Amino acid sequence: MTLQDVLGILHPAIAVAFVFPLIGVVSRAAWQVRQRRLAVANGQKSKIPPAVGPEHVEIGRWLTGSVVGVSLVALAFVLFVAKQNILDPKAWADKGSLLALQLAFFAVTIAAFVCLYRSTAKHWRAIFATLSGMGFTIISAQEGIYRRDQEWWVSHFYYGTIATLLMIFALSILPEIYRSKTWRNVHIAANIVALLLFIGLGFTGSRDLLELPLSWQRDFVFGNCNDATKTCTAPAPQPPTAPAPAGSN
Ligand code: HEM
Ligand code: HEM
Repeated sequence: MTLQDVLGILHPAIAVAFVFPLIGVVSRAAWQVRQRRLAVANGQKSKIPPAVGPEHVEIGRWLTGSVVGVSLVALAFVLFVAKQNILDPKAWADKGSLLALQLAFFAVTIAAFVCLYRSTAKHWRAIFATLSGMGFTIISAQEGIYRRDQEWWVSHFYYGTIATLLMIFALSILPEIYRSKTWRNVHIAANIVALLLFIGLGFTGSRDLLELPLSWQRDFVFGNCNDATKTCTAPAPQPPTAPAPAGSN
């Protein structure tokens, strides 16, 4: 594997090894929080410990950060490694200002997201959630990112973008979930959608890995294979190398 291919599997590897286990823990705790709250509300004694609430929230905060992080890793890979090598001086000579602007958007988005983690006041949470959500959307709208628009309903890009925005939303309304029944229900509805999207991301991401050629196979596959007809043509045969004339050495 070349360095480019190793960098390419960074995103799926982080998702599988770190993000999906967190989704499992958060979902299990979510179910328990609800069972416990309903039992207590009905005056029953619940066997579920009260610690599941804080546990759900603590791991939920980690989940938000890791989903945003894993999506940014994927987008950075496409924009700065697969599409062009950001370390190549030619890339800077051709599109230096665009590259600088894209890097600035990554920096502003990450900074706004860190501020969202640290904010407690409602207006700051609203401001930083809007800034990090907008930054993320602008980055994902850059040219060169494969969106699968012709099959948007099974697009890894759309599933990933919406799931990431839903995680930013969950973090931004965190204190409200405790305060009102409406916000709690909004949280449950939004995160059931997120959970379905995460399952979809597992399928669509595995499919995309299967579809993408390794870097050294790329020119051949993109040059000789037709996605619509699902066929590849054999490359034109190379002319045989002429034998060296006798006595030429
Ligand atoms: C897969 C993602 C998630 C799902 C399916 C989910 C679902 C739930 C459910 C079902 C509840 C219980 C509501 C009730 O008592 O009826 C809950 C509570 C809560 N969730 Fe989530 N959630 C998710 C992610 C998150 C994230 C990422 C955060 C914050 C960053 C978060 C923060 C909270 C808070 C603060 C509560 C209230 C806890 C309590 O009452 O002790 N959740 N969630
Ligand atoms: C939390 C789960 C995940 C999220 C939020 C997520 C998000 C994203 C985003 C936003 C992109 C960039 C847009 C695109 O090129 O489609 C992307 C690309 C990609 N993802 Fe995921 N993803 C997740 C899980 C996975 C998994 C589990 C796999 C594979 C096992 C995977 C494989 C890929 C591949 C192969 C690409 C394309 C990279 C390229 O074009 O070179 N993803 N993902």
